[in-house]
Amino acid sequence: MDDIIKELEARRENAKLGGGQKRIDSQHFKGKLTARERIQLILDEGSFEEYDMFVEHDSHEFGMQDQKIPGDGVVIGSGLVNGRTVFIYVKDFTVFGGSLSLAHSKKINKIQDMALKNNSPLIGVLDAGGARIQEGIDSLGGYAEVFQRNVLASGVIPQISIIMGPCAGGDVYSPALTDFIFMVRDTSYMFVTGPDVVKTVTNEEVTAEQLGGAEVHTSISSVADGAYENDLEMMEQMRELIGFLPSSNIEKSPIRKTSDPINRSEMSLDSLVPDNSNTPYDIKELILKVVDEGKFFEIQEKFAQNIVTGFARFDGHTVGVVGNQPLHLAGVLDSDASRKAARFVRFCDAFSIPLVTFVDVPGFLPGTDQEYGGLIKNGAKLLYAYAEATVPKVTIITRKAYGGAYCVMAPKHLRGDINYAWPSAEIAVMGAKGAVEIIYRNDIGDEEKIKKHTEAYEDRFLNPFVAAERGYVDDVIMPRNSRSRIGKALKMLRNKKLSNPWKKHDNLPL
Ligand code: HXC
Repeated sequence: MDDIIKELEARRENAKLGGGQKRIDSQHFKGKLTARERIQLILDEGSFEEYDMFVEHDSHEFGMQDQKIPGDGVVIGSGLVNGRTVFIYVKDFTVFGGSLSLAHSKKINKIQDMALKNNSPLIGVLDAGGARIQEGIDSLGGYAEVFQRNVLASGVIPQISIIMGPCAGGDVYSPALTDFIFMVRDTSYMFVTGPDVVKTVTNEEVTAEQLGGAEVHTSISSVADGAYENDLEMMEQMRELIGFLPSSNIEKSPIRKTSDPINRSEMSLDSLVPDNSNTPYDIKELILKVVDEGKFFEIQEKFAQNIVTGFARFDGHTVGVVGNQPLHLAGVLDSDASRKAARFVRFCDAFSIPLVTFVDVPGFLPGTDQEYGGLIKNGAKLLYAYAEATVPKVTIITRKAYGGAYCVMAPKHLRGDINYAWPSAEIAVMGAKGAVEIIYRNDIGDEEKIKKHTEAYEDRFLNPFVAAERGYVDDVIMPRNSRSRIGKALKMLRNKKLSNPWKKHDNLPL
């Protein structure tokens, strides 16, 4: 018995060394932590239960029968984040570059199945060289098995992908099928084909960073939802994010106790909107001033900055916040902003997270760029997302809600539950200038007349009262009371029940 226990201990120690001390040192030298160090950072201390530590590949090609490393390049298991169960797989770059063999993929499949069966989030940490080249088709099949499970789990459990090194070839598609992707700056990159293939096929010369670094994917492609400085900051932030999310689509988000009074009024909000309706202001100031303790976990901060999305809490309960951002492109809706917000709204709806929407939008962005880029279909994505959402929807119009964009931004007509406007709201088909130029085309050139018409239009339409008279907004509220009014609305809506007609699945305008 003693011998067996000694062997077990020796085998464990060996497995924990992964690809050996030299490769661990090389990992550290690159500024990256090892798989097990990463696990320690994201999970509650001592909560990790590892499975399949002794699994080895079964490949006999290219001399692989003589190169077996226990664990085969991925560490899997379960553990706790702030006391709640999560399932995790972490690629071990020190073992065959974290590449995916059949045995490796079966380990990932095992943890995916466990996460789904146990209704708990799945976290994947990527740091790998793609398909195990020595395994060929077995590796491709293994990837497809991972993808299939990602899709089945989509909308059932939150799936988070964390990129902490190379992520190329087959490795990119599993993250792309999950809910969120986060990257570490400078040490991680993602692409379907690397710089060498790019050079051969297109003659373009790019570095890995230029092709698929964190900057590219958070600000240009929108593949990634955020980036952090290093492994440590990443794991701290991922614990924060998980704290906002329910374990699955049959549970509610955890409630975080707060000392921030829900009836706190914020006088400074009364002067947030400038007198001149073309002067920008920062919608994030409003968000930070109304949510619990000013804590806002922003999603896609660097991409399509004309719309802001992220998680926050009211009275300890998680909400998804969407807000037009007047500081960027005057808060206009374009294709990127519509896609960004649509995906966020759909995530919230899938996981029963109420939506709080702040509206200040002058309309959709005109131009050939936008139209050729499919603005119609992209704008429709956001419209679709709000219209199908059955979670509580609370909307505050702070200033402009013009034209089609009014229809999109969670109005009463898309089953908005509580819709408020600030006194500064301008709810209309369009701004005064555009409206007057169309209605009074014959008077163009007569400055006096145009001025009069413009003033008349502004007086009549650029206010919250026309909408309030029709019940399209439920009340006109003082900005300073926004937190308490939103808080009361969300509390009132806590037992909301609403469902959509049965369908196999919807047909979102992709
Ligand atoms: C087997 C691999 C490997 C792979 C890396 N290694 N990638 N082994 N299969 N795909 C091994 C290396 O041989 C090396 O082993 C160790 O991992 C570390 O690799 P290095 O190259 O020394 O590291 P680095 O310089 O940091 O470069 C990392 C890298 C590079 C950029 C990821 O290794 C690389 O380009 N790998 C190949 C990427 C690739 O083409 N993958 C296939 C994609 S096709 P030793 O023993 O020296 O430590 C694909 C299709 C799937 O994925 C499609 C499904 C939809």
